[in-house]
Amino acid sequence: MADLVPPPQFAVNVFLASVHHLLLEGADHPLASHYPSVCARRGVECTRVSDARLTGAFASFCRAFRHEIAQCCATRATQTNEVGRCAILRAVLGSLHARGDRTVSLLDLGCSAGLNLLVDEYACVYGDADAGPSTATVVLRCELVGALPELSIPEIETRVGLDLAPIDVTDPDAVTWLLACLWPDDLDRFGRLERAVDVAIARRGEVVIVRGDMVDALERAASSASSATRLVVANCWSAAYLPEARRHELAARVASLARERPVTWVTMEGPRVARDLGVLAATARLAHRGASVVCVTEFADGTAHSSFVAETHAHGVWLDWHASSSTLAG
Ligand SMILES: C[S@@+](CC[C@H](N)C(=O)[O-])C[C@H]1O[C@@H](n2cnc3c(N)ncnc32)[C@H](O)[C@@H]1O
Repeated sequence: MADLVPPPQFAVNVFLASVHHLLLEGADHPLASHYPSVCARRGVECTRVSDARLTGAFASFCRAFRHEIAQCCATRATQTNEVGRCAILRAVLGSLHARGDRTVSLLDLGCSAGLNLLVDEYACVYGDADAGPSTATVVLRCELVGALPELSIPEIETRVGLDLAPIDVTDPDAVTWLLACLWPDDLDRFGRLERAVDVAIARRGEVVIVRGDMVDALERAASSASSATRLVVANCWSAAYLPEARRHELAARVASLARERPVTWVTMEGPRVARDLGVLAATARLAHRGASVVCVTEFADGTAHSSFVAETHAHGVWLDWHASSSTLAG
């Protein structure tokens, strides 16, 4: 069945998510009692069994639901929206606040469900320091390896997301698929995503989501953001999906946008992608193997100036914030 998954999708991920999705949707099978996320949803206790019994139950489920799994594999694509990355986005926004920006607009390229546009709605715990609303239902815990970022962030005037295939948070099937793409035993991440979706549903009137390609539709999406504020354009693990030539085009489009209005460009991607985007110098020294790099690019007189401000876990689990980037050049 996994071979029905169309490239460039990772077949195993879509196959496992398809099984998880069917179980979350209520499929009646003993396998359900071994999936922590499904048990939590159904309000029943999860049963731990040996790997051999689990494999047997999994194979039995695949035989019983082969048509449904095949349908899922052939038509779905993995989708994620990792709110943990807001701990990193918040750190960058903190540095903008520290240099005097009091209000900004956000444009998230590859926004998925748009959850990261609500960065100021989530509490964030950086080691011993707390930031964000104390009443927040979503709490991000980020271990600090480097300096403590600034904790205050600018007010966000408009929030615009751009995605090829955005997730509608009011569509239960789409949201269940988003949840199904998480590992079923990571209950913390699962619960956090559910709560973030609830926040997004409650605040949906404040978020504009544009369907389109992040290169071709960049200007169209930017036109939905307030022109009275600096526009913070962010791409978090989304430019990774562009072929190399399109990454160069994205950089050129952002620079072109910056000739029309004040723009700060935040990228959180793997080092190779950051180099293709032209925001990370080939000579930059990386301290953490496999980490994502965070770069902030400002534009002056048609010239881009990029700062390499942090290395981080891809999901924002830890952050090595460079002390010298606490205040960016204005
Ligand atoms: C790994 S998800 C990351 C989502 C979100 N940025 C986050 O950090 O949680 C990548 C997202 O990029 C979107 N995407 C991929 N290629 C795109 C493109 N060319 N233009 C717009 N969005 C794209 C996908 O639909 C998906 O929602």
